[in-house]
Amino acid sequence: MKVLIFDTEKEIGDAAGKIFVDLVKAKSNAVIGFATGMTPVPTYNYMAEEYSKGNVSFRDITTFNLDEYCDLPREHKNSFYMFMMDNLFSRIDVKPENINFLDGNAADPEAESKRYAEAIIKAGGIDIQFLGIGRNGHIGFNEPAGAFTDEAFKVRLTDSTIEANSVYFDDVPMPRYAMTMGIGSIMRAGKIVFVATGKAKAQAVKAMIQGEVTPKCPASILQQHKDVTVFLDRDAASLL
Ligand code: F6R
Repeated sequence: MKVLIFDTEKEIGDAAGKIFVDLVKAKSNAVIGFATGMTPVPTYNYMAEEYSKGNVSFRDITTFNLDEYCDLPREHKNSFYMFMMDNLFSRIDVKPENINFLDGNAADPEAESKRYAEAIIKAGGIDIQFLGIGRNGHIGFNEPAGAFTDEAFKVRLTDSTIEANSVYFDDVPMPRYAMTMGIGSIMRAGKIVFVATGKAKAQAVKAMIQGEVTPKCPASILQQHKDVTVFLDRDAASLL
């Protein structure tokens, strides 16, 4: 892992965003894995700004998001689909038909997992994956568990994740389940851009980088990926 430490979230967003923009300039039909949450916002701002300045076009990219809540309509303001539309997709020229999400309302989660895995293969595999981390060490919604997962699956969210994300839900209760890409799907991405900011992530970041590789800290598996760049602010790096 290459670990880079920055003073501000804006600096991280600019540096991480440049990796995505440079890849799309070199490979216009790049396949990009996206994450939601507060962490990627500065990175998505950089990408949208580069597009609005005419420095890059995203018209040929294909996207796959990491996860989506179950039992929440896709158009609900708290769905990850709407998050991506608001924070990135409506601000760039990605084609709607090239945007891929897990269907959190699929009647058959196993069939949905298979569909997503096949769509990723058909697209040629994920070239670059953005990752944030949960306070409990989750990546995507792969919560601490007894074994590493492979393809997408339906997961019961942990109390820690429900506590962290409930603050965004003001009209309906936060869903208890989500569909998430598995650890195997994440590890097959060619390149990983990982970002963590803030003191609340410091313990998970330490376990990920310096702890043993264990499904109890799902992010620790990234020690075994060949191309991970870790972007941290000083708070997130404070226990290293
Ligand atoms: C979101 C995701 C999660 C988040 C993590 C951190 O698609 O996969 O793993 O990256 O929960 O969330 P924030 O960035 O809000 O602290």
